[in-house]
Amino acid sequence: VNPDDSFTPEALRENIMKQSDLLVLTCEARTTKTNKPYLALRVRLPQDNTDTTDFRELDAKIWSNALGEPLEIGRIIAAAYEEEVYQDIQQLSIKKYTLRPLDFPQSRFLPATVVAQSVLYNKFFGYAWQNTDIRDFMKNVQALLEDDNGRLKRRFIEVPAGARNHHPRRAGLLQHINEIWDLTKCLFGGMAVCYNDGEWTCGLPHFPNLVNEEIVLVGAVLHDMGKIHDYNPFTLQHDDNRTGAYFGHSVWGAMIVQELWPPRGDLELRDRLTHCILAHHGSTTTGSPINAKTPEATLLHLIDAMSARLDVHRTAEEKGLRGERPEYSKMFGDAPITPTYPHPDR
Ligand SMILES: [Fe+2]
Ligand SMILES: [Fe+2]
Repeated sequence: VNPDDSFTPEALRENIMKQSDLLVLTCEARTTKTNKPYLALRVRLPQDNTDTTDFRELDAKIWSNALGEPLEIGRIIAAAYEEEVYQDIQQLSIKKYTLRPLDFPQSRFLPATVVAQSVLYNKFFGYAWQNTDIRDFMKNVQALLEDDNGRLKRRFIEVPAGARNHHPRRAGLLQHINEIWDLTKCLFGGMAVCYNDGEWTCGLPHFPNLVNEEIVLVGAVLHDMGKIHDYNPFTLQHDDNRTGAYFGHSVWGAMIVQELWPPRGDLELRDRLTHCILAHHGSTTTGSPINAKTPEATLLHLIDAMSARLDVHRTAEEKGLRGERPEYSKMFGDAPITPTYPHPDR
């Protein structure tokens, strides 16, 4: 039933009742003190201009049909509601709603992305891997993401890489992976045309046969993939998610390699890749369960840090151009220095 054509009570005519599509940001089944069940939601209202990131977001309650399953985050509903004030805060009381289809356009609810999501997704999963085990493994990862109507894929292409730290924006995770990918490619391709021992060589020419490029590239795609469980792809903030809470993103990624590696594949290669993911924060003092102890793990860790830190500098400079002060960053224990901060005094 569509509320647009089925719901025309007196209230609607008197302008108390409003109708709009709403994006579900969070949803929990709760009960009142008197044991009355309801759904408690956080919803976002649509906006025609999505250049800004300031969307109107409100708490909402659904009293009818509240015994059903909570609504999935990211679902768009067509709702008829009243605005009310509860404990001094404006909220919506949803009187009636229907689910919009899963593929209903979300563009009026989301800020513009900084990267072309499908282009990057295809870049990572359409890559012509030389190693057949890696090729089979990446096919399995793709199948996992696209299973169940692409539920995990939608998270993967939407989540930020952090809530504050680095790449804290829509599709920030894809942007971060892409930077690591391209920086790796620079090392192995760009810089690599190098005259060495009377020969032009490629692939980290100063360290011949030391680093397996494909392990670094797969590591780039997998190292932070576990963040699909850590962040809400719509609020871009931390998500209360049991998988994320139990494992953390590094360990989740490592488990995926162990689980989805082709059973008859090279187990040494599997574990070398697993190590890169477990050790990508560098050492146990910086949050890795294990120190980076292979050339690929060292390289992935350093390029990962390069992408993360340069993003913090980039964000600070962009803020400076808008006349804003850069934010405190955990990475520097301070705000980064920009052309306008601290205020130039000479
Ligand atoms: Fe990480
Ligand atoms: Fe990372």
